[in-house]
Amino acid sequence: MDRTVSVSRSEQMHEKLCAEGDHSSLHRFNYCFDYIGDKAPYVHPPFLKLNAYLRTKATRARRQTLEENEAEANIMHNINSIDLHPRQAGLPWLTGYGVVRQNRFWREAQERYHSLLRAFAEDEMAQNTPFGSAITVADIAKKELKDASDKTSRYVPMLFPLGDMERTILAGEALALTLVFDEAYEIFGCDYEPSFLQSLMPPHNNKDLSPKTRLQERIWSTLEKMLECDHIYGNGGQDTIDTLVAYASRPKPPSRVYETMSDYYDFRYDDGGMGPTYAMIKLSIGSNVDFHDPKFTHFLRLIGEQTLGQNNIASFDKEKRRYLSGMFPGFEQSNGVMVIKRLLSLPTDDAAKAIAYAYQLETERQIDTELERMAVEGDLSHEEWKFVDAVLLMSVGNIMASITMSRYGGAAARLES
Ligand code: FPP
Ligand code: MG
Repeated sequence: MDRTVSVSRSEQMHEKLCAEGDHSSLHRFNYCFDYIGDKAPYVHPPFLKLNAYLRTKATRARRQTLEENEAEANIMHNINSIDLHPRQAGLPWLTGYGVVRQNRFWREAQERYHSLLRAFAEDEMAQNTPFGSAITVADIAKKELKDASDKTSRYVPMLFPLGDMERTILAGEALALTLVFDEAYEIFGCDYEPSFLQSLMPPHNNKDLSPKTRLQERIWSTLEKMLECDHIYGNGGQDTIDTLVAYASRPKPPSRVYETMSDYYDFRYDDGGMGPTYAMIKLSIGSNVDFHDPKFTHFLRLIGEQTLGQNNIASFDKEKRRYLSGMFPGFEQSNGVMVIKRLLSLPTDDAAKAIAYAYQLETERQIDTELERMAVEGDLSHEEWKFVDAVLLMSVGNIMASITMSRYGGAAARLES
């Protein structure tokens, strides 16, 4: 592609992506991945009432003072984040969601995300785990640190737009741990043995553990800061630690073929780290809500299906490549596009992506309906609505991040050169 043409396309996108006054806070991007392209011309994003719901809150908040309606004032008027307009900017916006926020503290969060990964890369145990393996835990971190600013640290400001600087940094460090735990599990397949990862987390790694390796020290200092946040307000720090410990230790499910999508998502919800994700959202906003309360069950399950469903399509090519090189043995059961392809006997991967995309949009429509139901009969407090809004923004942010990082689209999605 002609360099001048592509650079100016990138400039045009950035220009239209946010208000002029927000440009100094915008996390600019070098990749733009259209993972559907012309594969599904018959599928169109639905009209969702939730977009108006989020925007109306902003309108109401503008009319009211913070004192009168503090809980409602914090989404669109949240001082930690800026409003993005991906559709207006011409990004391949494959969703009915229309309200997108980006955290302003992306530089600070990125720096600490990468410094935690460096601690993994330099750790002697990480360099030898699994023992004798061609790819080690340290290699996972090293790979992520190459051209790092286009990689998964881009998730942080998009998944957690509402947090202040400290909380966003900490949620980001928790995400870096999730990434390492997730990749280790995926790559090692049936040989997965969690004792090294467990040695980094409580109960093994705690205040009294001495001596600590540098990596253990680095992680413990992060976990302590999460607990300090809880002292100020909420219990998202403790929830983050607990869910990460469970995530690192999760047993390998028996290898089997899923017979329904619901059966598949029973597995994938835990496999994809929805528990840690909801805990990190709580940590980022400072929240005391109990996300296991039955009033959230259906909503959070649907959000999990939307988020993971979108990830299954966006990450399909990357995961298939890994599978073909022997590095992701569980791909056929783990990626939902493959499950849909098998259940519906679809002829090609592209056909399966198209139907998976329609399935994602149907899930968004169900989220919309569930939100209406919750508004009428859910009996949610202000704090619980704030959590719901932050969960919605996570689900939107996941899409924005996956389009603009190099992880899924690779070189073909690079804007310049
Ligand atoms: C990744 O699934 C999980 C999600 C996209 C759900 C939302 C949670 C996150 C974005 C945070 C945790 C994940 C990462 C990658 C930091 P996957 O295991 O299929 O990840 P992949 O598609 O990136 O390989
Ligand atoms: Mg994936």
